[in-house]
Amino acid sequence: MSTEQPARDTGMFRTKSVEQSIQDTEEPEHALKKTLSAWDLTVFGVGVIIGTGIFVLTGKVAKETAGPATALAFVTAGIVCALAALCYAEFASTVPVAGSAYTFAYASLGELPAWIIGWDLVLEFALGTAVVAVGWSGYVRSLFDNLGWHLPAVLEGPDVPGGTFDLLAFLLVLVLTAVLVVGMKLSARITAVVVAIKVTVVMIVIIAGLFFIVGDNYSPFIPDPVTPPTSSGWDAPLVQTIFGYAPTNFGVMGIFTAASVVFFAFIGFDVVATAAEETRLPQRDMPRGILGSLLICTVLYVAVSLVVTGMQNYSRLSVSAPLADAFKDVGHPVYGGIISFGAAVGLTTVCLILLLGQTRVFFAMSRDGLLPRFFSITHPRFRTPYRPTILLGVVIAVVAGFTSINELATLVNIGTLFAFVVVALGVIILRRTRPDLHRAFRTPWVPALPILSVAASVWLMLNLPGETWFRFAVWMVIGIVVYALYGRSHSRLATRARGERLP
Ligand code: ALA
Repeated sequence: MSTEQPARDTGMFRTKSVEQSIQDTEEPEHALKKTLSAWDLTVFGVGVIIGTGIFVLTGKVAKETAGPATALAFVTAGIVCALAALCYAEFASTVPVAGSAYTFAYASLGELPAWIIGWDLVLEFALGTAVVAVGWSGYVRSLFDNLGWHLPAVLEGPDVPGGTFDLLAFLLVLVLTAVLVVGMKLSARITAVVVAIKVTVVMIVIIAGLFFIVGDNYSPFIPDPVTPPTSSGWDAPLVQTIFGYAPTNFGVMGIFTAASVVFFAFIGFDVVATAAEETRLPQRDMPRGILGSLLICTVLYVAVSLVVTGMQNYSRLSVSAPLADAFKDVGHPVYGGIISFGAAVGLTTVCLILLLGQTRVFFAMSRDGLLPRFFSITHPRFRTPYRPTILLGVVIAVVAGFTSINELATLVNIGTLFAFVVVALGVIILRRTRPDLHRAFRTPWVPALPILSVAASVWLMLNLPGETWFRFAVWMVIGIVVYALYGRSHSRLATRARGERLP
C-alpha cells in the first residue's frame, strides 16, 4: 500500500494527490455508481471508435491524399494510438477516477496543465460529438431518400446547398442527452446492441467485399506525389510549410497527411478511461478495455480500407458514403443499403459515448472547483451528473445543428493528440514523483516508450494544416483566460491551502 501524501501547493502547478482524487470520488453526493466490467468497457470502446472515421473519411482520404496506401495511414495512426494507449492504461489503472487525461494531469503535472487538458478535451469530445451527429444525419437522410422521404432543404444542415440548420443532428444529440441523464446502465445496454449491428456491418464489408477485389486497383499502391491545384500555405500540413516544401498529396508524405486525418477513426479508446470511476475493478479491467477495443478496431480498419480500395479505383471512390457506394459500383445496391443502415445505427453510439466522455470530464473539473461546483452534484435518483449532461447536451446540439463538419474534424484531432502528449509526459513524471503508487498496469519501457509516444503524436500534429494549429491556439488562449479569472481562485486545492471550508 502507498502512504498518503499531501497535495503539493506550488501555485498553478499544485498537484492533487492520487489519494485525494480517489477520496473525492467517495463523497456520497459526488459519487458515481460502479457498475461497469471489462466487457462493458470494450463494448464502449468499440462503440465509440468505429464511426465517421472509417465510414466516411476513408473515401475522402483515399481519393485525395493516399490512394490504396490509406491502409498504411491506418496502420500509422494505429501505432500512434497504441503507444498512447499503453500510457493511458497505466494512468487509468493508477488513478481510477472520472476525467481521463484531465485527472491524470492533475495528479502528475499540476493544476494549470490539468485545466489546459480539460479544456482541450472539451474540443475533442464536444466537437467530436457534433461532427459525428452531422455525419449520422447525412446517412439517415440518405436512407430517407431511398424511402422517398425528403426534409425541406433548409433543415438539411449547412453542408447542403440551401441548408441552414441540421434538424436531425440537433434532435439526435438531445435524445442521447436524455438517455445519459437517466443512467449509465441503460445507455450501456443500448450501446451493446448497436455495437453488435455496427461490427456486423463492418464484417459484411470485409467478407462480401473480398469477392469484388480487382488486383489492378492496387497499382500503384502509393500513387506519385501531386501538387494540389488550390493549396495555400495555410491549408497545407504544417510540416510542409515549416520545411518549405511545395504542398503535395499522395506519395510517402501523403500517407502521413492521411494518417493525421484518419486518426479521427481511432478517437474513443481514450474515452474508455473516462469511465474509470464507474468501473468495478478499474485496476484490472481498464487496461483490458482500452487495449482490447483499440486492437479490434485497428485490424478492422486496415481490412476495410484494403477491401474498399481494391473494389473501386481510389480516384473514383465516393467521399460521403464510400463503403456503401463501392458496393453499388459493383452492382450490389442491397449491400449498399444494409451498410448505410448499419452506419447510421453505429454512429448513434459514437455520439452517445463521446457525449458521455465530455460530461464526465466536465464533472471532474467541477468537482475540483475549476468549474462551478453546482455542476458536480449527481442526481439523487439516477446518480448521474445530470447538470453538465443537460447543459453540454443542449450546447452541442446547437453546434451540431449549425456547423459544417469538415474543418471541425481536424480540430478534434489536434486536441486529442495534444492530450496524448500530456498523458505520456504524465506517466514519466508520476513514476518519478510517486514511485510508491500501486500500478495494476505498468507501461513497458518507461521512459523510452512514453517519449516515443510524444514524438509520434507531435509528428501527426505537424501533419495537420497550419489553420488547424491557429484555431487550436485561439481555443487554448481562451481556456487560459477562463482559468485565470475563475479556476485559479476557486480550485478546491487552493481553497484547502488557504485553510477555508470547502463548499
Ligand atoms: N472514432 C470515432 C469516429 O470515427 C470518433 O467517428
